[in-house]
Amino acid sequence: MILFKRPDDLIDFIQKKRKSIIKIGFVPTMGALHQGHISLIEKSKSENDITICSIFINPTQFNNPNDFKKYPVTIEADIEQLELNGCDILFMPSVHDIYPENFQKSNFELGYLDNILEGKHRAGHFQGVCMVVKRLLEIVKCDILYLGQKDYQQCMVIKKMASDLNIPVEIKISPTIREENGLAMSSRNKRLNEAEKGVALVIFEVLSFLKDNIFELSIPALLQTGENKLTSKGFKVDYIEITDEILNPIKNAEKNQTIVALIAASIGDVRLIDNMMLNHANNAE
Ligand code: PAF
Repeated sequence: MILFKRPDDLIDFIQKKRKSIIKIGFVPTMGALHQGHISLIEKSKSENDITICSIFINPTQFNNPNDFKKYPVTIEADIEQLELNGCDILFMPSVHDIYPENFQKSNFELGYLDNILEGKHRAGHFQGVCMVVKRLLEIVKCDILYLGQKDYQQCMVIKKMASDLNIPVEIKISPTIREENGLAMSSRNKRLNEAEKGVALVIFEVLSFLKDNIFELSIPALLQTGENKLTSKGFKVDYIEITDEILNPIKNAEKNQTIVALIAASIGDVRLIDNMMLNHANNAE
């Protein structure tokens, strides 16, 4: 694996490679890698000539300075995992590389996506995500960008940004990878102690309950039961929501409709998010 720290070096390298028309897959991360990231690397490797992974803890997407300070950093283990899994290039820029003095901040028109769910609870978060992903795509100029469904709203935001700005990239979203007990893999899980890990899987249990009962109970009853279960286990719930495919809350569940459930809740000072498809429009799993 080749490590690049400076954007210009990576740009040069890619330009040279492009002369023999290669296909490039890109997996952007903030490090603290887990099997969810590795599944994206594997997918990219199977579909491209070169796979690039970036590790950059992007300060502009943290609305909470404490969350930024406490974000897990496990660089050595990350490098080992990437090498073991055959990643070709690791890009690890500094904050100054990504946001140089002359960096022009833009305002991304994200519409309602900026103000609901994560957008509502983490003001400015998606502006920061778009800022860094746009910048990374300008440097990496990949053919395919790989994202995880665990950050469902982020996937929608990045797709909108890329389409609005005519960024020539295909975006592929891969399913959430879970621990055996159902807990969605997340870099933030590293901050949970053993007892908290046991409690954290209740998010998956609630999502599974919503899925099992989506056509049995009313949406308000489902949401109330889900919220009660979470709070009774000590969670502080930011939201529990049942929506259509594009994140508009729904009042009734229809069989011919894609339905998604999304949860954000904190246990101790660790905030976790997860989601699950409750129904597919075409009834395919
Ligand atoms: O999902 C993440 O890890 C980050 O939001 C991303 C896409 C790497 C941008 O910093």
